[in-house]
Amino acid sequence: MTFENTLHFAKQLDLQDPLANYKEVFNFPKVNGKSVIYFTGNSLGLQPKIAVDYVNEVMKDWAELAVEGHFYAHKPWWDYHERLCTPLAKVVGALPSEITVMNTLTVNLHLLLVSFYKPTTTRYKVICEEKAFPSDQYLLQTHLASVGINPSKAIVEVKRRPGEHNLRLEDVLATIDEVGDELALVFMGGINYYTGQVLPMKEITAYAQAKGAIVGWDLAHAAGNIALDLHEWNVDFAAWCSYKYMNAGPGNASGCFIHERYHSDTSLNRIGGWWGHNKERRFLMEQTFDPITNANGWQISNPPILSLAPYLASLQLFEEVGMEALIAKRDRITAYLAFVLADIAKQENTTYEIITPEQPEERGSQLSVFLHGKGKNLFNYLMKNGVIVDWREPNVVRLAPVPFYTSYEDIYNFGQILIQSSKEI
Ligand SMILES: Cc1ncc(COP(=O)(O)O)c(C=O)c1O
Repeated sequence: MTFENTLHFAKQLDLQDPLANYKEVFNFPKVNGKSVIYFTGNSLGLQPKIAVDYVNEVMKDWAELAVEGHFYAHKPWWDYHERLCTPLAKVVGALPSEITVMNTLTVNLHLLLVSFYKPTTTRYKVICEEKAFPSDQYLLQTHLASVGINPSKAIVEVKRRPGEHNLRLEDVLATIDEVGDELALVFMGGINYYTGQVLPMKEITAYAQAKGAIVGWDLAHAAGNIALDLHEWNVDFAAWCSYKYMNAGPGNASGCFIHERYHSDTSLNRIGGWWGHNKERRFLMEQTFDPITNANGWQISNPPILSLAPYLASLQLFEEVGMEALIAKRDRITAYLAFVLADIAKQENTTYEIITPEQPEERGSQLSVFLHGKGKNLFNYLMKNGVIVDWREPNVVRLAPVPFYTSYEDIYNFGQILIQSSKEI
């Protein structure tokens, strides 16, 4: 499609957009009395208006039923978390039995490493990407140390080539070959938080597994954003947070995927707790841990119902719309944003260098723009003028036009604010 950087054209695209009405089902912050243009759904997704109903339902049941709510609430609390498994399975391409929701992301990754990082004297190395999200770096460093492995000897980073922003698949595969029989685990971000690059998870998973390694993915930036097929890709484990594209609220619970082939595997270590115990026998207060034979067998504690409520509300919207429609709009609106940036750069004889890959299959909603020259001043200008973006050192703004709630008119208006910024900064 040939794009035009005009208000009329943007409005036409909105008229053709089957998801246009979904903007109305989210709450937007206001700046200068106007709803913002929100480009930070890759950091914290907007609040679905129905979230408050789901939370109020729990509050009401708690007020009226107290402890009886465990079994007699509108949505009984003792197995509330199970309601999230089927809709989430569709979002990440899994069987419902392979999904559980609990704790928070980094906590879950530690718990999953308890099960899936099983170093031996000869096979103990872990491959991850250079400049992984800091929490993943601390996760690996501290987890390995906690099981007596020297992180500086065991962690192998796949590097970007000099002058390049993104990882090359061939370099990931070559690193797997180099580490060879010493490779215990490949653990990477499915989408890099800084560049927005989507890694070819299917290929990397198959290649590393063929060498005898386990493969796990941090899907913080991928869940609810790109097409995932975790079961078919034979991924061993994965986890994601729910506060970015999943729109479940700040610091909310994390989803986990554990491939079904492990559900009854008693050779795996686990950190157990009563919510992972045989569901029918949980309240018999038995002495011996008998884990549920699906991903819920990794649960530990009473689920946080007040957190799960907005997550369930958000999943209702994913159920209604489906990933296919979200992805179709995502590709078009992201391409429109790239076009508007390029058009303005041409008009102004400047550069907005997009470091995110250009091919739709190698990126999700996010475009990371390297700002030559204008840097922090431009970021501050945008924020003051109602465009919420985020800043990453040394000189990058990340823009995520989330298909649920970004309109084409937003993109056009953002472009006009960008033009105005060059006159005022
Ligand atoms: C890629 C990635 N991994 C891990 C985390 C950490 O998540 P949490 O603080 O929920 O453990 C984040 C948070 O933004 C992230 O973007």
